[in-house]
Amino acid sequence: MDEMAIARAFHVVSVIAWIGGVYLVTFVVLPAVRNMDEALDQIRSFDDIESRFGGHAKVMVLTAGASGFYMLYKLDAWDRYANLDFWWLHAMTLIWGLFTLVLFILEPLFLHAWFDKRAQEAPAETFAMVARFHQFILIISLITAFGAVAGAHG
Ligand code: HEM
Repeated sequence: MDEMAIARAFHVVSVIAWIGGVYLVTFVVLPAVRNMDEALDQIRSFDDIESRFGGHAKVMVLTAGASGFYMLYKLDAWDRYANLDFWWLHAMTLIWGLFTLVLFILEPLFLHAWFDKRAQEAPAETFAMVARFHQFILIISLITAFGAVAGAHG
């Protein structure tokens, strides 16, 4: 197996674990939590599950980014950023940047505390907003993964 194949394998496994986790949170965890009666139970359960997944997501975002940039370097394909036919490369990089920003900067700085405060004041609205955000990011991630496989092999 050459280095490119190993980097590709790391990339795909990282993406499976990361985006698969977002899928579970969006379609299983959030609806289950929103069905709970007490706002405090909703917040505690969601915080607990998301913070456990957060550690995994951070590692997977790092390995997906490292393997992705390594593949670009090996393929010497930086000029793809100047070509809109490679829209899936722009989309991959954007999604990665968004998760990096949220997981490593915004959440530890203020997002977590802001969510807890807002969820206590208006639980239904806050969980609906969080659900919409997860649905949006999940859909663009799945479309991007579809485009990346088709683009890399098409
Ligand atoms: C910094 C972020 C990223 C970079 C630089 C990057 C870069 C790359 C590169 C260079 C390839 C190989 C393309 C080729 O063989 O022509 C690739 C493949 C792929 N990437 Fe990414 N990627 C990133 C993030 C992501 C994300 C966030 C996703 C998922 C939403 C993703 C999903 C995939 C998939 C599914 C493939 C196709 C693997 C295959 O079937 O060979 N990547 N990526």
